[in-house]
Amino acid sequence: MSEAVIECRGVTRRYDDGASVVEVLRGVDLALAAGETLAITGASGSGKSTLLHVLGGLDTPDSGSVLLCGRDLAHASERERARLRNTWLGFVYQFHHLLPEFSALENVAMPLLIARRAAADAAREARAMLERIGLAARLEHRPAELSGGERQRVAIARALVTRPRVLLADEPTGNLDARNATAACDLLLELCAAQQAAVVVVTHDERIAARMQRRLRLEDGRLGPLGATPT
Ligand SMILES: Nc1ncnc2c1ncn2[C@@H]1O[C@H](COP(=O)(O)OP(=O)(O)OP(=O)(O)O)[C@@H](O)[C@H]1O
Ligand SMILES: [Mg+2]
Repeated sequence: MSEAVIECRGVTRRYDDGASVVEVLRGVDLALAAGETLAITGASGSGKSTLLHVLGGLDTPDSGSVLLCGRDLAHASERERARLRNTWLGFVYQFHHLLPEFSALENVAMPLLIARRAAADAAREARAMLERIGLAARLEHRPAELSGGERQRVAIARALVTRPRVLLADEPTGNLDARNATAACDLLLELCAAQQAAVVVVTHDERIAARMQRRLRLEDGRLGPLGATPT
């Protein structure tokens, strides 16, 4: 039996603004082994981003536990959480969030520098990553000088350059046309398979969801099988 690289048990999260309480997550259980891929779908406002933030230690559940490579993320200090995030997690968002004043090479090298790798090492690995994903001719381009598809590929490279155990992606292809969405998904799955990273991808795109080994739907604060209650 393989051990989970990311796991959550009984996770709840509510927002209380004084006037009203929104129970977004009402007891979410989930476990992924190395190399496993999962798509999460659900209506707008169903809590998909909230769940990803909790899984990634960017938000704290009201109750329940989140284990990242066996470490309790939900109860770790802010400092420890940041360290665990930098070591074990990669994030990809709908919008690339690349730093506009830095080149593709510098953007991809950044997480390695933050992890205190030597500058020469970081540059070498970032270059190898960009060459691998077909952007060898774009190393010195800034985000504004790249196409939308290229920008998202750079964002994927940046998320995976540190060889995280888990990649969390929130609508990673939501801003791309069908052809670029397929290319970005191919790239993400290929790199994650090579590194045996587990993947959790939130997506509205049926074709992207269909590429993942497992598919779950977030509804009424809980994760369930896809298409259980068609309305
Ligand atoms: N900081 C916050 N304060 C109060 N309510 C919030 C906050 N963040 C999210 N919510 C509410 O929690 C619910 C879930 O939001 P979330 O962003 O997780 O949904 P989502 O499934 O990612 O939606 P979308 O598909 O539109 O991205 C929504 O009703 C939202 O209004
Ligand atoms: Mg969202």
